[in-house]
Amino acid sequence: MDGKKMAGEKAAELVEDGMIVGLGTGSTVYYTIKKLGERVQSGLHITGVPTSRATEKLARECGIPIADLNDTAQMDVTIDGADEVDPSLNGIKGGGGALLFEKLVAKASKRNIWVVDSRKMVQQLGAFPLPVEVVPFGYKHLMKTFEREGLNPVLRMKEGRPYVTDGGHYIVDIKLKSPDIGAFGAWLDGYTGVVEHGLFLGICDLVVIGDGSKVYTKNR
Ligand code: A5P
Repeated sequence: MDGKKMAGEKAAELVEDGMIVGLGTGSTVYYTIKKLGERVQSGLHITGVPTSRATEKLARECGIPIADLNDTAQMDVTIDGADEVDPSLNGIKGGGGALLFEKLVAKASKRNIWVVDSRKMVQQLGAFPLPVEVVPFGYKHLMKTFEREGLNPVLRMKEGRPYVTDGGHYIVDIKLKSPDIGAFGAWLDGYTGVVEHGLFLGICDLVVIGDGSKVYTKNR
C-alpha cells in the first residue's frame, strides 16, 4: 500500500469521540479525512476545523461537521501532512500552499500529528524549497532582497499567473540556506511583506510514517 495512505489512515485511528480536530491539507491527510468520514458515518462525533477551502470541501463531502477557527476555542488535535521532517520533528510545510491557515490551526491545537510517507523524513531540512507567503503589493522588492541574500526566490505560478493562496497572498519558494533554522525563521518573521513561512518548528508532537510495507510513529 502507498506510504501516504498507510500513514493517513493510521492517524485517523488516533481521533477519539467528542474531539475537535484540525484538518490539514494535502494528498496524505486526504486519507485521514476520508477515514474520519467513514468513522463519522459509523457514529463517531467530531467537529473538524479545516485549513483550506479544498479541505473544507472534502470534509463536507465526507459528512464531517465543520466549524470555523474563530468559533473554536482549541483543537484537541490537528492532523496534517508535511513536506520534510527532521529528527527533532521540525518541518517544512506549504508545498500545497496552505501554510498560513495550517500554522494558525496548528498553533491553536493541544496536539499536532503529522502524516508522511517515509521519504519525507530527512536528516536536515532544506532540499525542499521553503514556501514563503507574501503580500502581493510590492512583492518584487521582497524577491530582490531574497535574491541579494542568495535565496534563489521563485514566484509560485499556476496556469500562467501567480498562485494565490486562500488568504489572498502570493507564495515565493526560496532555498533554505541557513543551518540555523530558528534564526532563519525569525529573520523571515521580521520581514515586512512576509505573511508567513513554511518552517514549522517545535509544533509537531507525533509523526506517523508509512513506508509502503509498515507504518510507525516517532514522538518529539
Ligand atoms: C499544504 O500546504 C502543505 O503544508 C501540505 O501539508 C504538505 O505539502 C504535504 O502535502 P502532501 O501530503 O500532499 O505531500
